[in-house]
Amino acid sequence: MYAQMVKTDADKVKALQEMTPEERAFQERVDRGEKIEPKDWMPEGYRRTLIRQIGQHAHSEIVGQLPEGNWITRAPTLERKAILLAKVQDEAGHGLYLYCAAETLGVTRDELTERLLSGRMKYSSIFNYPTLTWADIGAVGWLVDGAAIMNQVPLQRTSFGPYSRAMIRICKEESFHQRQGFDIMMKLARGTEAQKRMAQDALDRFWYPSLMMFGPSDKDSVHSAQSMSWKIKINTNDELRQKFVDQTVPQAEYLGLTIPDPELTWNEAKGGYDFSQPDWSEFFEVLAGNGPCNADRMEARTRAWEEGAWFRDGLMAHAKKAAARRAAARHAAE
Ligand code: 3HC
Repeated sequence: MYAQMVKTDADKVKALQEMTPEERAFQERVDRGEKIEPKDWMPEGYRRTLIRQIGQHAHSEIVGQLPEGNWITRAPTLERKAILLAKVQDEAGHGLYLYCAAETLGVTRDELTERLLSGRMKYSSIFNYPTLTWADIGAVGWLVDGAAIMNQVPLQRTSFGPYSRAMIRICKEESFHQRQGFDIMMKLARGTEAQKRMAQDALDRFWYPSLMMFGPSDKDSVHSAQSMSWKIKINTNDELRQKFVDQTVPQAEYLGLTIPDPELTWNEAKGGYDFSQPDWSEFFEVLAGNGPCNADRMEARTRAWEEGAWFRDGLMAHAKKAAARRAAARHAAE
């Protein structure tokens, strides 16, 4: 069932002496910190890994609009509504930059979407959890966007040029998203007893799913070793999870909320917190399609894709006519 989690020889990182001359020249460029651009030679595995990761990332941005979009009509004030609307629009923009970055690797946005809808590509596990209360929107901004930034700031230095450049813009916007989430949590945590309880309940439900966003523990991570040697990934999953916990615990203390982990303790020797791991069997269930909202999310994306077919057809027909008009004008001028 979890075949994807089984490490295989295919994931073995080649030593320099095992590489072909082309592969070695490529690896040396990566090691020197040079950016790889779309028309440069690259190993097929590098291209495949990038398409997988950038595609999954793009899908996450798009699917991630659903749990928040659900609250646009119910945001408590006009100002909160405008902010949430802007945030959800930003996520659509992030998805589009990332699809464009993936397209430079020779895959179309339509192909990526078809792979998502047929279950051959993933999106982040976090978006398979429901947003039940307004405090969940605060928790999503604070924790989910907070975890996303923790993962994405290092990706600004990723070796593939278009991905790295997309991440620079995305990270700026994600920081605003994180702050708006924290601001919602602050209002609730300093509000009535009922509002504070709502904030705590959101933290209780979103804490472990947020920790899962960084991926399985390093010992179970299939792709980390190869991705890090190609500098597609800059840090391991566990390194980023630790940094996230260390950053978030003081923020929870400031809010007067309690992280739902009785094992959470400061470890002076390592200079970070010891904390409980998420329930990894739940994570793998969510990846296998059995999370609380997997079916809803896929149903919404499939409907959007099918209902948008007439519009995509219209755009293609218009593009064809415009190209024919330009060709005719060029021909007439010659
Ligand atoms: N959700 C879903 N699938 C996950 C996952 C998660 N949280 N974490 C890992 N996986 C999948 C991997 O994709 C891989 O499956 P695959 O082989 O079928 O693709 C498998 O689990 C094994 O995990 P690995 O650690 O070997 O995989 P990676 O090396 O790819 O590491 C990652 C996983 C850290 C998520 C990495 O892909 C990454 O950094 N991706 C870019 C960032 C990203 O996708 N972020 C999405 C977050 S949400 C977001 O950005 C929206 C924002 O607005 C909040």
